[in-house]
Amino acid sequence: MDLRLGDRPVIVTGGGAGIGAAIALLLANEGAVPVIFDRQPLAAGFEAELRSAQPRSLVFQLDVRDDAACIRAVADTVQALGGIAGLVNNAGANDHVGLDAGVPAFSASLQLNLVSVYRLAHLCLPHLRASRGAIVNIGSKTAVTGQGGTSAYVAAKAAMLGLTREWALDLRGHGIRVNCVIPAETWTPMYASELARSPDPAAARAAIERHIPLGGRMTRADEIARAVVFHLSDAASHTTGQWLFVDGGYTHLDRMAQGIATG
Ligand SMILES: NC(=O)c1ccc[n+]([C@@H]2O[C@H](COP(=O)([O-])OP(=O)(O)OC[C@H]3O[C@@H](n4cnc5c(N)ncnc54)[C@H](O)[C@@H]3O)[C@@H](O)[C@H]2O)c1
Repeated sequence: MDLRLGDRPVIVTGGGAGIGAAIALLLANEGAVPVIFDRQPLAAGFEAELRSAQPRSLVFQLDVRDDAACIRAVADTVQALGGIAGLVNNAGANDHVGLDAGVPAFSASLQLNLVSVYRLAHLCLPHLRASRGAIVNIGSKTAVTGQGGTSAYVAAKAAMLGLTREWALDLRGHGIRVNCVIPAETWTPMYASELARSPDPAAARAAIERHIPLGGRMTRADEIARAVVFHLSDAASHTTGQWLFVDGGYTHLDRMAQGIATG
């Protein structure tokens, strides 16, 4: 299948590590031009791999909560690459801001997990209209299951599901497609640091994996990336407003009916 992504500039927020890095690398390998917005510098090995796959890749070290920095980076991207054909809203953190935390902490979490998503879509909009581009939001299964103790993150990810539908309608006249790819248990630095909070991280990981119906294992970041890149490409030319769970059946399948997860 020809994804026909060649030379298309695609912004990936949080593209420096984990799921975002896998998306950026796959885009580069498909001939697109990844443009990473990340607050951390890239690991040297990852940057070398990215640039060898796509020498025109761009990296902006910025915080997606910083309006002025995002405005500058979007303008610089357009100047350097001639436009923007895709946006992946991936930066986010399951930051455990629960009901006890209070309004300032709740609002601060929404700045990262929700407001930045609107910010980037807003800033990229004229360029996506010009390119008839695509947006992919990276959600979380917690939007439909809850998690406990993480009100702000869940609120943001649930809003992302709504915005995916809202923007798909809003932007259909410009040929812009908007979809949401939803991970559940994907092995990334964020996940590793979550598990590191438990007394026995290896046992905690095994306990989770036992409940993942397909394969009894975590999703890999490259498996999320493939779904995202599909939605960015012309192969998804009539797919919009959709929520796709890439999670080995973890969110929806009846695990009791299957007995145990099988490999
Ligand atoms: N890993 C999972 O199992 C899982 C499950 C559900 C949803 N998700 C979602 O997937 C997305 C990526 O998660 P991940 O596990 O790869 O996370 P990660 O922490 O491993 O990587 C996130 C990247 O985003 C960057 N980032 C964070 N805050 C930023 C900011 N303010 N400005 C710019 N960059 C910033 C980080 O520097 C990092 O490079 C997140 O939106 C997360 O909520 C992940």
